Amino acid sequence: MDIEQLLAQRAKLVDAEMPNLLVDIKPPELAAAVSYAIASKGKRIRPALVTLACEAVGGKAEDACFAAASIELIHSSSLVLDDVIDKSEKRRGRRTIHTLWGNDMALLTVQILAALSLKIAARDPRLIHAIADSLFYMGEGEAMELVDFAKDTKGYLELAFRKTGSLFSSAAEVGAVVGGGDETQVKNLMEFGHHIGIAFQIRDDILDCISREEDIGKPVKKDLFMGRPSIVLLDAINSGISIERMMKCNNGELMHLVSDSIDYAQEVAGKEFGLAKGHIEELDESPAKRKLKELGAYIINRSK
Ligand code: IPE
Ligand code: IPE
Ligand code: MG
Ligand code: MG
Repeated sequence: MDIEQLLAQRAKLVDAEMPNLLVDIKPPELAAAVSYAIASKGKRIRPALVTLACEAVGGKAEDACFAAASIELIHSSSLVLDDVIDKSEKRRGRRTIHTLWGNDMALLTVQILAALSLKIAARDPRLIHAIADSLFYMGEGEAMELVDFAKDTKGYLELAFRKTGSLFSSAAEVGAVVGGGDETQVKNLMEFGHHIGIAFQIRDDILDCISREEDIGKPVKKDLFMGRPSIVLLDAINSGISIERMMKCNNGELMHLVSDSIDYAQEVAGKEFGLAKGHIEELDESPAKRKLKELGAYIINRSK
């Protein structure tokens, strides 16, 4: 089974957990926005990580599905919020919540999605701590983007951990906890998630420069035009390419102009993947451990 098949298989397991959530939400406008958010599905990478982490410590993927659904709902909530902050009009190939229902309703959708996530996680109170951690970090990470926090790779890595790595770390953590992992296994899998999550964000930054909107389902060159600290743009600026010059480029020209920085970013993503793999070396060999490494390779090479 290749990674895309695995993602599809794990997505199905998680989807089966979602309908139970359709609690009665009032008023109907809020219910519509929340349903729209839940119905629009992404790549489901985090649920794959949750279930693989569970299996890698000897658990069954099926037992981790509620944890995976809980993590995916936190992810969805963070996307709705991020789209408000980034004033983004497209997500997963569809119009964003705030463009359809307005910013206020979008923010309330964020709150309901997070609440739904917590309701599911409460089935195993050990998960609450992990989810609270990533909610906290993600808030910090998104704020760091607004205040010019990251000026170099070191600052960027701190930001990328908070904004994205933290949820990957929590995803691996809840999977390992539900799977009955011991303290060391849980810690190692959290570190795996931490680094693979940073690598994921780096690849996302690269895709922002090299992709077409129709391929990734969201606007491109957004980091450039919103002044966001992408690792590619930071490196380009630090090597003397002005933002104004980048802004004058069309997609193809930008890719060419910052090609050294794209190579650099890809190299850093590869290093993070290497660190991630190092942290799971001690785990017993298993199909799930192999799949975790394949998931990492997919993350740094993906085109959407
Ligand atoms: C997008 O995450 C947000 C980032 C952390 C960069 P994904 O690329 O996993 O989004 P979906 O779930 O597939 O839409
Ligand atoms: C968002 O990062 C990360 C979170 C949702 C916390 P980005 O702003 O790079 O994500 P995209 O590119 O909009 O998906
Ligand atoms: Mg964004
Ligand atoms: Mg992005």
